[in-house]
Amino acid sequence: MDIQFDFTGRTAVFFGGTSGINLGIAEAFAARGASVAVAGRKQDNVDAAVKRLGTHGGPVRGFVADVRDMESVAAVFDAVASEWGPVDILVSGAAGNFLAEVNDLSSNGFKVVVDIDLNGTFHVMRSGFEHLAPGASVINITAPQASIPVRYQAHVCAAKAGVDQLTRVLALEWGGRGIRVNAIAPGPIAGTEGLARLSPGDDPTGDRSVRSVPLGRFGTREEIADLAMFLSSSAASYISGAVIPCDGGGSFESVRAIEDAGRFLASSGR
Ligand code: COA
Ligand code: NAP
Repeated sequence: MDIQFDFTGRTAVFFGGTSGINLGIAEAFAARGASVAVAGRKQDNVDAAVKRLGTHGGPVRGFVADVRDMESVAAVFDAVASEWGPVDILVSGAAGNFLAEVNDLSSNGFKVVVDIDLNGTFHVMRSGFEHLAPGASVINITAPQASIPVRYQAHVCAAKAGVDQLTRVLALEWGGRGIRVNAIAPGPIAGTEGLARLSPGDDPTGDRSVRSVPLGRFGTREEIADLAMFLSSSAASYISGAVIPCDGGGSFESVRAIEDAGRFLASSGR
């Protein structure tokens, strides 16, 4: 990369930061000097993430917290702020996903995704605000499903659309404090749980999904991290309320590959 970022002395908190894309973002900040805290539901994932982030030599903390529970989210902020002070960078990216037609979703099946993705983001924003430093960068991780209707993804479409609008409203309400709030909408990112869940099951090479991306390849966790660092840098000081795709140019095509995966699952009776 021909841009050098430096987050030395900054405090960064990542909800859903114990694996995949969000851990990739946390790692980029840890490698550039930030004090990094990650939170997720499972102790094993928290421990593994802390170990990995610790290899960069800076301060790292891990917390077991479920974003569906606002008290556990608030406890993370209290602990981080008491040790490191105000939060400069906040990333909210916890999410759940599975393929299911609306007619195969129970009330709880729809609710669980809305609870994690949308209500969880609200809990992180609502609890985090009082701990944000003036000039903080807040980033929510959304998805193309927020703006493109996708079969087998009604629960995710509804939840992530809410995340996008919450992002835009917070940019309005928090702008006066100098806090910028943006969202990143990744396309298909290689080697992630999200992509594995949404790739056509009869196409283990993922070729069909890859062909759906105009740039001809999946994205990398590093490319999402680069955008998160840019948004948190002084180079993005006038960017707020933006929902930015990072998808190789292909969200409209890629979501059709997700529908193929849903059709395959439905036809195979799984
Ligand atoms: N089709 C239809 N309904 C499904 C489903 C599927 N494939 N998978 C789960 N559900 C339903 C369950 O049946 C349950 O509803 P019920 O109580 O009426 O039976 C409801 O969703 C909750 O499932 P449960 O397994 O109890 O939830 P959980 O809180 O343990 O896990 C999930 C949450 C379901 C989102 C789980 O997939 C998860 O933990 N995901 C995190 C990782 C992930 O999705 N990463 C990718 C991010 S893009
Ligand atoms: P992932 O590896 O499954 O990451 C999800 C993270 O959230 C994990 O750290 C997980 O840890 C945590 N989490 C899940 N439920 C939680 C809860 N209730 N409370 C707290 N933490 C919770 O998934 P990913 O594929 O990297 O996706 C990361 C983000 O990118 C998501 O917001 C997703 O919607 C978005 N996205 C991904 C893709 C893609 O191609 N992968 C494309 C578009 C958008 P625990 O399981 O330990 O809780």
